[in-house]
Amino acid sequence: MSARGSSTPAGRVLGGTAVASAASLPTSDVDLEASLREGLAVVEARLREAVGNTDPLADATSRHLVLAGGKRVRPMLTLIAAHFGDPTCPEVTSAAVVVELTHLASLYHDDVMDSAPTRRGAVAAHQKWGNNVAILTGDLLFARASNVVADLGPQAVKIQAATFERLCLGQMRETVGPDLHDDAVAHYLGVLSDKTASLIATAGRFGAMFAGAEPRVVDAMVRYGEDVGVAFQLADDVLDLTSAVDDSGKRPGTDLREGVPTLPVLYARRAARAGDAEAAAVVALLDSGRLDDDAVLADAVAGLRAHPATEEARRTAREWAERATTHLAGLPDRPARDALATYAATVADRVG
Ligand code: IPE
Ligand code: IPE
Ligand code: MG
Ligand code: MG
Repeated sequence: MSARGSSTPAGRVLGGTAVASAASLPTSDVDLEASLREGLAVVEARLREAVGNTDPLADATSRHLVLAGGKRVRPMLTLIAAHFGDPTCPEVTSAAVVVELTHLASLYHDDVMDSAPTRRGAVAAHQKWGNNVAILTGDLLFARASNVVADLGPQAVKIQAATFERLCLGQMRETVGPDLHDDAVAHYLGVLSDKTASLIATAGRFGAMFAGAEPRVVDAMVRYGEDVGVAFQLADDVLDLTSAVDDSGKRPGTDLREGVPTLPVLYARRAARAGDAEAAAVVALLDSGRLDDDAVLADAVAGLRAHPATEEARRTAREWAERATTHLAGLPDRPARDALATYAATVADRVG
């Protein structure tokens, strides 16, 4: 997202990474910006409501990552897409809350799966309360998301269920890895579509749908979200190598340490097989079995970051983002369309 304008209260760094703010919204249109800012503030209040009033432990664990910050990309996309219809429909805000709660729940589980030490600049929940409580907090948040989506009707519940299913299957397929006969890159891109793009597509779809936009607009939002979502995750994989913890709120090298075959890794392995000595040196580190040693991990991160494989992965992210933009062609020419184009233009090169 662009880093234009000045910081606002809604954009304060709460404990980790910044909540989406006017400074990070992909628009310079004054009315759209004001509407998004107002909408995100309501979403923020609803999120806080959704993570309270149970018992002290459940409240503390579920609030942990909400208060730590986060970019709120998914609710932002819901609110932007709603501008192709009536953005004041109350269901739009509820839908934005649903997608962020679903995302939030997946983060609690993902950090257990990845043994991640930090999230949103805060200590990961499983480090603080243990795996069992962290997993149960994720489940609790899925329950809260289900409660909100139930008020949006059976179609929304079906969409949410299908999205959540793809998210789980994507995480599972990433964990299991490709079969021998599978192409590793194609398998990995399929994983990204399911684990990340599915929810980003639903975010836009819900926004257009509940604002009463035409079906062809809703379809375009799905296609846009599916492609921009892959670009978003590819950029995230590059950030695992290039970002400082202060920018991403996450510890660099977590994917490498966990053996996730991200696109930079897959491209480096391909280069090594083709005889590239620098790639072979990186691959040797990745396969050394010594990535638990922080110094070895830092060498692997530095080696891969310096190799053209990382830039190539970023180029692939840009290609997905460009493809996302093509789906905007048939949409009404209004600031919301420009905002989606701006978002796609910046997503591959984001820094957090
Ligand atoms: C992190 O998502 C998980 C991925 C799908 C890469 P975000 O980068 O949107 O995380 P927050 O919400 O800003 O913390
Ligand atoms: C997980 O991907 C995406 C989810 C569906 C939660 P990552 O493992 O790359 O996400 P981060 O980097 O931990 O945020
Ligand atoms: Mg992770
Ligand atoms: Mg990641």
